[in-house]
Amino acid sequence: MRFPVLCGLAAHILCVSAGTILWDGRFNDLTSSTDLDNWSWSNEVGPYQYYIHGPSAVTAYVNLSPDYKNPADAGSKQGAKITLDSTSYWNGQTMRRTELIPQTSAAINQGKVYYHFSLMHTDVNPPATTREHQIAFFESHFTEMKAGWLSGAAGVSDPALRWCIGGQSQWSTNWTAGVWHNVAYEIDFSAGTVGFWHSTGGDPLVQTVAPVAASTSSNGADWHVGVLELPRDGYPDSTEDLYWSGVYIESGSLTTSVAGPGSSSGGGSSSSSSTSSTPVSSSETTLSTSTIKAQSTTTTASSAPASTTSTGSCTAARYAQCGGNGFTGCTTCASPYTCKYSNDYYSQCL
Ligand SMILES: *[C@@H]1O[C@H](CO)[C@@H](O)[C@H](O)[C@H]1NC(C)=O
Ligand SMILES: *[C@@H]1O[C@H](CO)[C@@H](O)[C@H](O)[C@H]1NC(C)=O
Repeated sequence: MRFPVLCGLAAHILCVSAGTILWDGRFNDLTSSTDLDNWSWSNEVGPYQYYIHGPSAVTAYVNLSPDYKNPADAGSKQGAKITLDSTSYWNGQTMRRTELIPQTSAAINQGKVYYHFSLMHTDVNPPATTREHQIAFFESHFTEMKAGWLSGAAGVSDPALRWCIGGQSQWSTNWTAGVWHNVAYEIDFSAGTVGFWHSTGGDPLVQTVAPVAASTSSNGADWHVGVLELPRDGYPDSTEDLYWSGVYIESGSLTTSVAGPGSSSGGGSSSSSSTSSTPVSSSETTLSTSTIKAQSTTTTASSAPASTTSTGSCTAARYAQCGGNGFTGCTTCASPYTCKYSNDYYSQCL
C-alpha cells in the first residue's frame, strides 16, 4: 500500500510516507562501539539496547569501522563487526551470544514493514559450519537467518546461509567468504506473512521468496541484530566474526537499492542471482533463547526521516558515495557536506 506524501515540511516528522525509516540502526550516530555502553535499562539512549553479550568490554564483541560495511551501502558511514569469542556467554546460558536490540518506540511491529540488513563473513574467523547460528532473529523465531549445521540434522557440517520461517528453511545459499548478502524481511504483521528480499554485493534487492504465512509477532523490542550460536558436544568454541551493514527498518515502499535511503547513489543493475530453495526439516533442539525482558517505557531516539525520492538535481546526500574509480553518480554533496576522499574507489559526503 502506498501513501501519498501529504505532509508539510514543518509536520514531516509526523508523516508516514513511502520509504519512511521507522528506526535507523546504521551506526551513523555512533562514534565507536563504546557508545553502546551509554545504554542501560535506566538510561535507554542511542539506537540500540546493549545487554546480550559476554562480560568483557564492548570492544571484545562489537566494533565499528568503515571497513566493516558493504562498500555499496552509501547510506552507512560504517558497519559493525560482531564477534563471538570464548567469553561470549550471556547471563549463565550455554549459548554464545552477541546481540543488539533496536531501542525505539516506533511502530516497527505493526502493519507492513521492511527489516533491512546486510551480512558478510571473511576467511578470518568465519562462523563454524559445524554449529547452528541464529541470526537477525525475533524472540519467537517467526523469521530469522540461520548458518551452519542445523541442530538435529544429519551430517557434521553445512556451509549454508538460510532464511527460515518458524525454524524451517525457506531459502539457502552456500555462504562463501567475502560476499555481502543484502536482505530485507518483508513483514506484514497484519496479514501474518513474511517475504524475503535478497541480493549480493551492490545489486538491488529482489523478492526472492514471495510472502509466506508466519506467526508474526513482536513487542517492538525483540529483534536481535547479532548472532546466537547453539552449543554442540565435541565442537569447541572458536572466535567468529560477522560483519553487518545497512541495518534499518522502513515502512511504506521498499528501498531496493543497497545504497539505502538518504543516499542518492543507485543500486546498479538488477541481477537475479540463482537462489536454490532447499527446504529442510530438522528436528531441532529447542533451546530457550529468551531474553530477560524487553519492556521499556522509552523516550524515542528519533531517527530523522530520510527521503528516498531522488530529485532532478544531482546532489549526493550525507554519507552517500560521491566519487571513486568507476563511480558514475552525483559528485556534488548536499550542503553543508563535502566530498571527502577515502580511497581510490570511494569518496563520501561528510
Ligand atoms: C555516549 O557517551 C559519551 C560520553 O558521555 C558521549 O561523548 C557520546 O556522545 C555518547 N554517545 C551517544 C551515541 O550518545
Ligand atoms: C561452497 O563454496 C565453497 C567455496 O567456493 C566450496 O569450496 C564448497 O564446495 C561449496 N559447498 C557447497 C556445498 O556447494
